[in-house]
Amino acid sequence: MDIMPVIIDGKKVASDIRGELKEKVDWLRSLNVRVPGLVTIMVGDNPASQSYVKSKAKACSEIGMLSKIEMLPADTSEESLLSLIDSYNASPDYDGILVQLPLPKHINEEKVIEKISAQKDVDGFHPVSMGNLVIGKNTFYPCTPNGIVELIKRYKIETSGKHVVVVGRSNIVGKPVANMLLQKKEGANAVVTICHSAAADLSAYTKTADILIAAIGKANFITAGMVKDGAAVIDVGINRVEDASSQKGYKIVGDVDYENVFSKTSFITPVPGGVGPMTIAMLLQNTFLAYIKITKQKLA
Ligand SMILES: NC(=O)c1ccc[n+]([C@@H]2O[C@H](COP(=O)([O-])OP(=O)(O)OC[C@H]3O[C@@H](n4cnc5c(N)ncnc54)[C@H](OP(=O)(O)O)[C@@H]3O)[C@@H](O)[C@H]2O)c1
Repeated sequence: MDIMPVIIDGKKVASDIRGELKEKVDWLRSLNVRVPGLVTIMVGDNPASQSYVKSKAKACSEIGMLSKIEMLPADTSEESLLSLIDSYNASPDYDGILVQLPLPKHINEEKVIEKISAQKDVDGFHPVSMGNLVIGKNTFYPCTPNGIVELIKRYKIETSGKHVVVVGRSNIVGKPVANMLLQKKEGANAVVTICHSAAADLSAYTKTADILIAAIGKANFITAGMVKDGAAVIDVGINRVEDASSQKGYKIVGDVDYENVFSKTSFITPVPGGVGPMTIAMLLQNTFLAYIKITKQKLA
């Protein structure tokens, strides 16, 4: 390609969205009314989960929303977790409830997700939210897929009639993003193919993608030969690879062999700094949306 690819700056877009939300929350504060609130519940002491939970709560406070972390011990019973969720379902102060996954093995994740009121399901994992997403109803969209679609929109990447190939069929990324882009709506309306590990010849699919979304979890898996000239490439992967030159001894790379794929693309997301920062921004947006829905209902 002789035209330089556009590097999609997820950090900037996420920061713009946070700024937009902060203005709205500041406005609510100036009116002296309740502001949106998010409670994040975590069970156990997984360090990665702890750090995710803290960044979510921090991002929430930074834009002036109410934010609370419930850190529960690893041996918390399923019953007491469910009853805590119920208390937040009824709380007038918290619009969003997020339970950090994974949960300890003795707790049934499905039961927990279903316990969260669909009205406060800011993670978008509740079966009601997922069902609404598939049938094209307005709902809480899961944060990472929503972040991907938002990046595509803000960079004005044409989706209508385009072939989107999603590699990965997880419930948190692959399936929802594919279904979102499939909808007969502005910013979507794509022809979508979903691939997974049973694809015999993956590159036969990826090479036909106008927009290629990689959500695999394997470092540098998508190589230049798998990408069509001029494709937009969205890399969702977050993988640790050894790096002796880094103080930590590792670095984070995506699922796309960025260095070699770069020149073939029209748009590309870097890792880090592409899709990653969007997830928390979309969580804040969902919390604001939950607040609006709940407030409207109270006023009706
Ligand atoms: N905020 C963020 O930026 C964010 C959020 C979520 C996830 N992620 C990252 O995104 C990546 C994917 O996450 P996930 O939760 O969706 O992962 P996942 O649940 O492990 O799913 C991976 C998917 O990739 C497919 N796959 C694996 N090997 C393949 C192969 N050789 N050919 C074709 N497909 C293959 C799997 O197929 P099968 O279904 O057949 O096993 C599966 O559908 C991870 O690196 C994760 O860390 C980032």
